[in-house]
Amino acid sequence: METVVSGIRPTGNLHLGNYFGAVKNFLQMQNDYNCSFFIADWHSLTTTAKPENIVQSARTILAEYLACGLDPDIATIYVQSDVKEVLELYLYLNMNAYLGELERTTTFKEKARQQPNNVNAGLLTYPTLMAADILIHKAVKVPVGKDQEQNMEMARKFARRFNHLYEVDFFPEPESFYFGKEAIKIPGLDGSGKMGKSDGNCIYLMDDEKTIRQKVMKAVTDSGPTKANSEKPEVIENLFTFLDIVSDKETYDFYNEQWNTCSIRYGDLKKQLAEDINKFCAPIREKIKEYSANTELLDKIAKQGAEKAQESASKTLKEVRQIIGFRP
Ligand code: TRP
Repeated sequence: METVVSGIRPTGNLHLGNYFGAVKNFLQMQNDYNCSFFIADWHSLTTTAKPENIVQSARTILAEYLACGLDPDIATIYVQSDVKEVLELYLYLNMNAYLGELERTTTFKEKARQQPNNVNAGLLTYPTLMAADILIHKAVKVPVGKDQEQNMEMARKFARRFNHLYEVDFFPEPESFYFGKEAIKIPGLDGSGKMGKSDGNCIYLMDDEKTIRQKVMKAVTDSGPTKANSEKPEVIENLFTFLDIVSDKETYDFYNEQWNTCSIRYGDLKKQLAEDINKFCAPIREKIKEYSANTELLDKIAKQGAEKAQESASKTLKEVRQIIGFRP
């Protein structure tokens, strides 16, 4: 079975964009691949030297992953900082990662601009740590968003370089894995193209019914179509994307027909949409609450995940040490 790895930085609660862009795909993958899903808490130190509550942030994501249906008995679900083998591989990869190429990374340049007083070495070597996360399990597929493509190219480059340097055929080159042609992009409710935490346009899996309704009712619209069967502007297309995802087909068709005949009432559409989003989120929300209240269980699952991850990681590392020439 092919090995799959993906990580997420613990920066708050999961939103619908995370769900439909990533988690939903993980749910499919966990049955077909040997999957590792981890919480990248070391990576979050690159932007925040002193995060508020590291343990609790990881628990939050873990509870949400489990509530969505990721199964710790099938997939390996762990916290990055529990698997210290990653660090040793990170060190070896860093010895063959060059300043120039690291500095040229788009994400590095962007972050360096955003935090000019904290352009630290961890930020610079973010791609080597990410490569270590992947290569430590010799993963061949990595489900990520398009924004990670450059990091993925670096991971492949580091794998190739290691193989070449030591004249081995050891690390496979991990490929980015999108579902369908492109990962689904969930729009924001403010009319922007993408739901993202930093844009403040998210519906969180944890949001209660009232919050969902408020957010949906505030969604940007236009003054309505004036010509039958006209093309939808982006803000309206966004609402239909949501209908397509959470509502049933009749509902979608109903409003689409209304749009085409210029009789659409956005207020009604939004009310329906809010209801359907709530219907989707409600059972997940309940499970998140249950898991979150049971920190003992969460910690047990994290420990069990760490042990499984260590097994695979220490096997790789042992071989790496041997290839480089260290004592076993
Ligand atoms: N860089 C990824 C992100 O910001 C998170 C990440 C860290 C990751 N290590 C990884 C993703 C390894 C996939 C594989 O989204």
